[in-house]
Amino acid sequence: MAKDTITVTDNVTGKSIELPICHGTHGPGAVDIGVFFKEFGYVTFDPGFVSTASCRSAITYIDGDKGQLLYRGYPIEQLAEKSSFLEVAYLMLYGELPQQPELDGFLGNIVRHTMINESLKGFYQGFYHDAHPMAIMVGVVGSLSAFYHDSTDIRNPEHREIAAHRLIAKMPTIAAACYKHSIGEPFVYPQNKLGYCGNLLNMMFSVPCEEYEVDPIAQKALDMIFILHADHEQNASTSTIRLAGSSAANPFACVASGIAALWGPAHGGANEAVLHMLDQIGDVKNIPKFLEKAKDKNDPFRLMGFGHRIYKNFDPRATLIRKMCHEVLAKLGDENDPLFELALKLEEVALQDDYFKQRKLYPNVDFYSGIIYKVLGIPTNMFTVMFAIARTVGWVSQWMEMIGDPDQRIARPRQLYEGAAMRDYVDMNKRS
Ligand code: ACO
Repeated sequence: MAKDTITVTDNVTGKSIELPICHGTHGPGAVDIGVFFKEFGYVTFDPGFVSTASCRSAITYIDGDKGQLLYRGYPIEQLAEKSSFLEVAYLMLYGELPQQPELDGFLGNIVRHTMINESLKGFYQGFYHDAHPMAIMVGVVGSLSAFYHDSTDIRNPEHREIAAHRLIAKMPTIAAACYKHSIGEPFVYPQNKLGYCGNLLNMMFSVPCEEYEVDPIAQKALDMIFILHADHEQNASTSTIRLAGSSAANPFACVASGIAALWGPAHGGANEAVLHMLDQIGDVKNIPKFLEKAKDKNDPFRLMGFGHRIYKNFDPRATLIRKMCHEVLAKLGDENDPLFELALKLEEVALQDDYFKQRKLYPNVDFYSGIIYKVLGIPTNMFTVMFAIARTVGWVSQWMEMIGDPDQRIARPRQLYEGAAMRDYVDMNKRS
């Protein structure tokens, strides 16, 4: 049987070559262009990697047209309903759902690593109180490699596993400390009996002088949001981690680079930007004006929380989180909250608008996550930090997969040079 190939002809030289087409489990085939430069002397040009698969992966699959998201083959809807964030973390790292003893062992490992080195706390004092928590996260997570030398030998699978567990376990502690530092309250130690999200809420909102009880609805909502954010195949921050990791950098440094990439408003910073945008719009009556601004190519304003590079039908995470948003508002907030009303109206109006319909721009997961965070009392500048906690699971899983890939090489893209042609240095007194 003939293998799938594609023939490429250089119309200048007349040379033709056949390139193999690789097929995965789902999704479009990929033309293997590994020999392209050697055969033709051309590089390929694809800004934003719109048509480029940067790696093989068996972790997450997205079908943007169907609005489908699978983690290790399992639909996100089923995981959101039936699983828990740490069980999903196990699934992402090890490829299969755990048996009970395996899950217990994994939870035990995570619990063992929730504390951070006492010296690490000193790092926070170096940041001014109004530092953005994402800035602190980049610094503190990057500094972990200075503390945990016993898990930075990336060629040792045990080191890799311990580093992955440490990162998943310590992110809530590091994140909560960012918040406490910003409000001048003492850091709260982890209470492992509270579970992953309960512990995070306790570290953020409890104080030593009062009893604090974790709200089960808040805990459940956070757990589901974290499942939805756990991974999203080769997005900007994950690709950053793979790129940094390809040079054999240690995993703590790699995750710090991923946090930096996540921060941008076109990526994880969008949930924070949505709230700022809703504040800016202010009232339902201003929606038409802002919709026009979003459509005006001379205006930098965009509808934050709308659009996605891959989802061109709907974002399945947005559907789930929208439902959760109603539940949380009904139980912990006010369904008539003007902010939520404004968000719903904006969604309704935009979905009927030709500009958004033609470009297939639908609300993404971040359109609603910010509203839930707000109801839970999480300050706006912590939204992207919450995303980073959840995405750490995907980051470390993708990093582990990459290190274990026999085809892995240092990632070194080419470029199309458009600068000055070669020229001679001009002495200062002769420059015009
Ligand atoms: N508001 C107004 N117009 C938009 C928006 C938006 N939110 N998003 C895309 N468009 C328009 C573009 O101007 C472009 O129009 P054109 O064809 O007339 O030039 C068209 O839709 C296609 O948009 P691109 O920018 O080419 O799409 P791309 O795939 O590069 O960008 C992105 C995707 C970055 C998510 C974009 O839609 C955006 O900026 N959205 C707002 C920010 C946001 O919500 N980011 C979160 C993404 S999800 C996540 O990271 C968890």
